Amino acid sequence: MRVLVTGAAGSIGRVVTVALAARGHEVVSLDRVPEPDGNETRFHTVDCADADAVAAVFAEERLDGVVHLAGHPDEASLPDSLTSHVHTTAALLDAMVEHDVSRLVYASSNHAVGRTPRRELLPIDTRPRPDTFYGVGKVAAEALMSLYADRYGLDTVACRIGSFLPRPETIRHLSTWLSPDDCVRMVEAALTATAPGFAALYGISANTRAWWDLEPGRALGYEPQDDAEAFAASISPSPEDDWDGAHVGGPFATSTYHRPALDRRD
Ligand SMILES: NC(=O)c1ccc[n+]([C@@H]2O[C@H](COP(=O)([O-])OP(=O)(O)OC[C@H]3O[C@@H](n4cnc5c(N)ncnc54)[C@H](O)[C@@H]3O)[C@@H](O)[C@H]2O)c1
Repeated sequence: MRVLVTGAAGSIGRVVTVALAARGHEVVSLDRVPEPDGNETRFHTVDCADADAVAAVFAEERLDGVVHLAGHPDEASLPDSLTSHVHTTAALLDAMVEHDVSRLVYASSNHAVGRTPRRELLPIDTRPRPDTFYGVGKVAAEALMSLYADRYGLDTVACRIGSFLPRPETIRHLSTWLSPDDCVRMVEAALTATAPGFAALYGISANTRAWWDLEPGRALGYEPQDDAEAFAASISPSPEDDWDGAHVGGPFATSTYHRPALDRRD
């Protein structure tokens, strides 16, 4: 497939662009920062929230699919979160409709349901329950993907990623870790699954202590191979573990993230 990867200069983007190219896909990269050293793909320096600039990339490239990783991966103000996650997704979806590109794979987040108290294995159809404005942005981006799947027949897959890291570093990560290799497996499965319409999955490895249901991913062909448990012996307990384990979104559900939705002048 000829795939546009947004956020290609970021931590997930660098792994995904190299791996998709190695697996035989033609990768076109996009990021708002300049082309990183060592990049071997076609590269566009574009802000994904700029609908005209995004449309110009689609007009120049003949694409089969989009992997949307561009976005600020942390809490921000409500307007900034909406721009980073919703406006960027909207610009891509409009360009996809205009240029007949039917597949979008999106880096959503566990923080879309992060305020859910953590008890049994979380199903994918649990109600949206964000823990931050970041999570609100991810919920709204998923809603937009659902709308465009219904309205235009696009295939849009939201991957609610846990903790993408080279290796797990905390007790929470033993449940939420997504290894780089499994991330590539997840993205490729979401890109190539047959006619999913709108679908969501939890983006974690095959962790023994998984908090979230892996079956929706498996139904799309995502078979994770790694397990954070292999690192368990090297991770020491911390005083934050109880907070981290109380809600799906871990530390994002704490008071540290409480703030007004909108900045005021006085
Ligand atoms: N890293 C994780 O564990 C994790 C977990 C859940 C979800 N995610 C999501 O995955 C995506 C990628 O995360 P990451 O960890 O690689 O973050 P990152 O900050 O390392 O990379 C994000 C990249 O997106 C680019 N970017 C940001 N806004 C942009 C815009 N408007 N237009 C063009 N480029 C823009 C940045 O320049 C950066 O290169 C984000 O959407 C994040 O919310 C990540």
